[in-house]
Amino acid sequence: MLVGEAPGYLGADRTGVPFTGDRSGRRVQTLLMALGLSEEKDPAAALPRLRGVYLTNVVRCNPPGNRNPTPAEVANCAPYLAAELAAVRPQVVAALGSFAARWAFQRLRGEELPAGIRALHGQVWPAGAVTLVTLVHPARASRGQMALATAALRTLLGN
Ligand code: URA
Repeated sequence: MLVGEAPGYLGADRTGVPFTGDRSGRRVQTLLMALGLSEEKDPAAALPRLRGVYLTNVVRCNPPGNRNPTPAEVANCAPYLAAELAAVRPQVVAALGSFAARWAFQRLRGEELPAGIRALHGQVWPAGAVTLVTLVHPARASRGQMALATAALRTLLGN
């Protein structure tokens, strides 16, 4: 399960499909292709055929002007994410960006995020039945950080 921040204004907010239609989406779809979790050859596919992975976001709507989600917005959307977690029962949760990492730490480990997301990039955390990976958000990650994310997830998934 990959958890992002919010549907992108030009991306998922328009397409209705998390991590499609914008640069972040293409970066995530490229990552999924490299991990064997997508059947696509084109990271810009409108409706990617994914296998064994579920994509979602901390908040359901694009915050106006692409601003950060507010604590109230995160709290309002938390029940959706909790329901998804219960339904999907993922083995691995990759938190993309500080909002997702903060949510995942609180929800899965009952802790506050111990450092900024850049310091936590690529780190793996036990969290009950789940293994949590904390990653810089693809909108802000360098190429090197995307490569490290791919390597960390590949090691974890064994593919
Ligand atoms: N698209 C999403 O669905 N989530 C993000 O966090 C960014 C782009």
